[in-house]
Amino acid sequence: MFATMEDVFTTLFGSEAGELYVLQCMAYIMIFMAGTTFLTLLFENVPYGRYASSKYGFPVNVKFAWFVQELPAFLVPVYLVLGTSALKLSHMCNRFIVAMYFCHYAHRSLIYPFLIRGGKPPPFVSFALAFIFCIYNGYLQIRYLSHFAEYPADWTTHPCFIAGFMLWLVGFLVNVYSDHILRNLRKPGETGYKIPVGGMFEYVSGANFLGEIVEWSGFALAAHSIHSAAFAIFTFVVLSSRAVAHHRWYLEKFEDYPKSRKALIPFVY
Ligand SMILES: NC(=O)c1ccc[n+]([C@@H]2O[C@H](COP(=O)([O-])OP(=O)(O)OC[C@H]3O[C@@H](n4cnc5c(N)ncnc54)[C@H](OP(=O)(O)O)[C@@H]3O)[C@@H](O)[C@H]2O)c1
Repeated sequence: MFATMEDVFTTLFGSEAGELYVLQCMAYIMIFMAGTTFLTLLFENVPYGRYASSKYGFPVNVKFAWFVQELPAFLVPVYLVLGTSALKLSHMCNRFIVAMYFCHYAHRSLIYPFLIRGGKPPPFVSFALAFIFCIYNGYLQIRYLSHFAEYPADWTTHPCFIAGFMLWLVGFLVNVYSDHILRNLRKPGETGYKIPVGGMFEYVSGANFLGEIVEWSGFALAAHSIHSAAFAIFTFVVLSSRAVAHHRWYLEKFEDYPKSRKALIPFVY
């Protein structure tokens, strides 16, 4: 039997170097998946929310789906931090970056699902893919940061780290506030759509997506690894496509949709 989780990892990967190599491969696989997702999204929207379709399986209750699909992105890292040696967490810098990740997922997994108002039930396939992605990414990000990532002693005062942290913070606030605006467009019991107003929605249709893209780009800048960059790239591919699709959808649906509003990048696109 295995004495600790580290024994399980050693048996699985052969050595620490073996596990580090697997983590690197996982990051490259995520970048490859971002590429194939980009091509797929040229022809089809991610099938949940207003684009939910029964051809991707039976509908799953929306609050249950968001809670269960996002939970591994929180619980896998909790286990890695508390249940394994997590050697690099003795360094302040690694702790700080891990805390940024947890801040997002504590909100996304434990708070966001229960605030959803009138959301469409996602089809089973989109729920299952999100669930698998959250396990994969939770392990990828936090195992690397908690056990392998090494930073110079003064990394927390490096311009890359400071700029990354600021971007992460601004992105997080824009994301959470924009989701709050969307939620409050509906009175309890309503399920229809209205034109979002306020915050970054004055400039772009995908304000919540812009926030999340900026957030994970900042995280990648601060964490400075292929693992965090892969997640930022994947997020950009999925959410930029969704912002463009939502923008087109609003323009078709609402004749009085603000003409100066862009899809994702204020004043530009
Ligand atoms: N990191 C990643 O790769 C990733 C991937 C996906 C999502 N996310 C994040 O997860 C969060 C939710 O994503 P999402 O794709 O579900 O966002 P969304 O399509 O903007 O929908 C968010 C919620 O607001 C409602 N809503 C949207 N527009 C509305 C309108 N005009 N009027 C009334 N209600 C409206 C939706 O209801 P309906 O369900 O009825 O449309 C849904 O409950 C976002 O913060 C996003 O950044 C991250």
